Amino acid sequence: MTPALYELPKAELHLHIEGTLEPEMVFALAERNGIELPFESVDDWKGRLQFASLQPFLDLYFASSIVLRQEQDFYDLAAAYLTKAHGQGVRHVEMFFDPQAHTQRGVALDDVITGLKRAMDDAHAELGITGGLILCFLRDLPVESAFATLDAVSPRALAGDIIGVGLDSTEVGYPPEIFTEVYARARGLGLHCVAHAGEEGGPEFVEGSLDALKCERIDHGIRSLQNPALVERLRESQVPLTVCPLSTVALRGVSTLAEHPLPRMLEAGLLVTLNSDDPSYFGGYIGDNYIAVQETFGFTDAAMAALAMNSIAASFAPAARKAELRAAVAAWVAAR
Ligand code: HPA
Ligand code: ZN
Repeated sequence: MTPALYELPKAELHLHIEGTLEPEMVFALAERNGIELPFESVDDWKGRLQFASLQPFLDLYFASSIVLRQEQDFYDLAAAYLTKAHGQGVRHVEMFFDPQAHTQRGVALDDVITGLKRAMDDAHAELGITGGLILCFLRDLPVESAFATLDAVSPRALAGDIIGVGLDSTEVGYPPEIFTEVYARARGLGLHCVAHAGEEGGPEFVEGSLDALKCERIDHGIRSLQNPALVERLRESQVPLTVCPLSTVALRGVSTLAEHPLPRMLEAGLLVTLNSDDPSYFGGYIGDNYIAVQETFGFTDAAMAALAMNSIAASFAPAARKAELRAAVAAWVAAR
């Protein structure tokens, strides 16, 4: 039987499409593209899913991403994710992708975007999923590379093929202020601005993302709790935090889900959403995150529906679409 929380309509706002690369697809695409992998088998790959921190995860994530070469690879990756996500209640998705990870291997930027966009268009037509693409800059690459990437995508940004920019990869040592001018230029193109902050970095990374980058949402942000003044600011402004519970456990941000600060964040009045981050690596897609949270914290169905409502409020969907999605959540509650 389909779990009820898979049927709860929701938006996914923190999802790296490269992090949905399942090991079977890693090997299938390696064969399609004639790429030699540093892993022996699917089991060998799965055996590496133990991470002491963010960096060892990123090493496996980028090592696996080398199989993505052609437009069709990006299409197949996103189509597989969208089908699976739809089965777990995703009705709207704002999908991260890491163009620099691919262009530095010689993949054409247009092939990445066209493949992902084609899968999103097909998912809209066939499954009714709405959303858009958010281009993430790798914060540990030189800022000049971020500028060059932004300039290269600007025609597609103006065409609406990309809805925003984000910032990911190694956090500590790469404060948000490095990207102040890049984000100013992105805003000039009409792009939304989000950034990973407060995953491994401290609350000052969240403050810098708000002040220097003018972010509308913060990805993770859990370390904001270390600074009461920042918590008050986030409560007052209702800037959303896209929390990824299974990810934070897998990357040892907390030792067990029971120790996750989610309940404290909600009690503090923060606008928190649940997301999957890199589901192939962290043991579950978004519905699995909802289920783990309910089981761990004993939240009621109404509380879970409130989290889904948060995901809609925090999304960049147009007002009419938000109204439709809210009605769908209300219908789920009414049927419980
Ligand atoms: N953190 C930072 N960068 C990332 C992540 C993450 O969880 N996933 C993919 N890139
Ligand atoms: Zn992330």
